[in-house]
Amino acid sequence: MSPLVLGIETSCDETAVGIVRGRTLLANVISSSVEEHVRFGGVVPEVASRAHLESMQQVIKQALLEAKVKLSDIDAFSVTAGPGLIGALLVGVSSASALALALNKPIYGVNHLNAHIAVDALSSDVKIQPSIGLLVSGGHSSILQINNLVTDVVVKGSTIDDAAGEAFDKVARIMGLGFPGGPLIDNQAKLGSKDAINFPRALTQGNDIEKNKYDFSFSGLKTAVSRYLAQTPNFNRADVAASFQEAIVDVLISKSLLACKDSGIEDLVIAGGVAANSRLRELAKQRCEVAKVRLRIPPAALCTDNGAMVAALGSLAISEGVKPSAIGISADSAAGVDQIVWA
Ligand code: KG4
Ligand code: ZN
Repeated sequence: MSPLVLGIETSCDETAVGIVRGRTLLANVISSSVEEHVRFGGVVPEVASRAHLESMQQVIKQALLEAKVKLSDIDAFSVTAGPGLIGALLVGVSSASALALALNKPIYGVNHLNAHIAVDALSSDVKIQPSIGLLVSGGHSSILQINNLVTDVVVKGSTIDDAAGEAFDKVARIMGLGFPGGPLIDNQAKLGSKDAINFPRALTQGNDIEKNKYDFSFSGLKTAVSRYLAQTPNFNRADVAASFQEAIVDVLISKSLLACKDSGIEDLVIAGGVAANSRLRELAKQRCEVAKVRLRIPPAALCTDNGAMVAALGSLAISEGVKPSAIGISADSAAGVDQIVWA
């Protein structure tokens, strides 16, 4: 039987535990402290860390109940060891280390970004490699070449300023929609016209595309929205949301398909919180069909932070024969996608 893996995620404001057997999802429990951060307009690290400490035991208990297994049945623990907020990460790493030590089971410290992609293995039948990966979250936006998800991931391009999720959050704030901005803009946009305002698509033309072929830049777009709002007293909120969203999504998909074309790789996987965006999902499907690229996007509920993705990456590491991490691993708040499983 495939090993039973319990994954713990605490890199930001979600205390999340997932349990998988091989590539079958058995439990996915999330306790979010987002409500405590709303009045600050962003996640407050100390508040997030305390919330993780307070919820951890209950979330683990709930996940075991949901999976109908006992703690002693778990074969291995997997935990997000970076990147993320250092105090928040340390709560997860300490909890997983304590469990592994007490139960004498292996621990896998894994990368949060790669875990976002690994969750796809729970819903697609085959592990398709190589693939081009579009990773879009609150802190990261990159185009990756995934030769092997647990051993060989290469960055082809990244954002040179704001991440896509960050742009959604900042624009939602200047539009007075609230926090976190992604889902709020997604909903507003459904009521508006994507063609109402022609917002800029940075690094997509002329010299820029030569120099920054697979890179993104979203801070100019944020400024353009801000200027539009200041100059247009009776602006239509839904139209601004839809047009802004279209500009982001258009660039993300165009550059991902360019990476597919240039590399001759016909598989694209899109992951991270922004992959929950309904317009991104729709447009990616349309454009991939035209380009004859096979598209995989995890179910929207598994795109934002969760424990299932961490358990999935741990499980893939085991199936690839990767050695467990040392007991006593630490967290690395700035880990890159090439640090996939901690030594
Ligand atoms: O991956 P994630 O849950 O956390 C990080 O690792 O950062 O991503 C969070 C980001 C936030 O910026 C949030 O606004 C964005 O994902 N997001 C969305 C949607 N749902 C979440 N952005 C656009 N549309 C959505 N539906
Ligand atoms: Zn994330």
